[in-house]
Amino acid sequence: MATNRTFTMLKPDAVENGHIGAILEKITAAGFKIAAMKYTQLSKRDAQQFYAVHNERPFFGELVEFMTRGPIVAAILEKDNAVDDFRALIGATNPEEAAEGTIRKLFATSIGENAVHGSDSDENAAIEGAFHFSGREIF
Ligand code: CMP
Repeated sequence: MATNRTFTMLKPDAVENGHIGAILEKITAAGFKIAAMKYTQLSKRDAQQFYAVHNERPFFGELVEFMTRGPIVAAILEKDNAVDDFRALIGATNPEEAAEGTIRKLFATSIGENAVHGSDSDENAAIEGAFHFSGREIF
């Protein structure tokens, strides 16, 4: 059964390019409520752990370098059908393939530096949210 929460990060490229406000506006305008949010920076160990599922991929080192090079915004978002609706809002991983109007189409520069993360399942949304937030940081 679908849960009503997903997890997102506004990645270092989005922060560097000054897009935090515009992306949060798109997210809240699409009906997502913010259940948790923080401005933080991942350590190398954090990024290796968060992306452990990708550790055999050729881009893993590049991904860890990128995700640790500056601050991110991490958030838990709430809406009916949150995981699927958020993935539709952000668009395809590769911004060249992302639909018009999606967050990645608007703000991402490449498949690696793609502005925003969205959980791919309810199970991973719960794991990823718990990675970043303690119970008393979630509302
Ligand atoms: P995301 O789906 O949030 O989590 C996995 C990340 O790996 C993905 O975003 C991209 O940032 C990155 N990624 C996926 N495929 C590639 C690729 N071919 N080259 C570089 N980075 C990639």
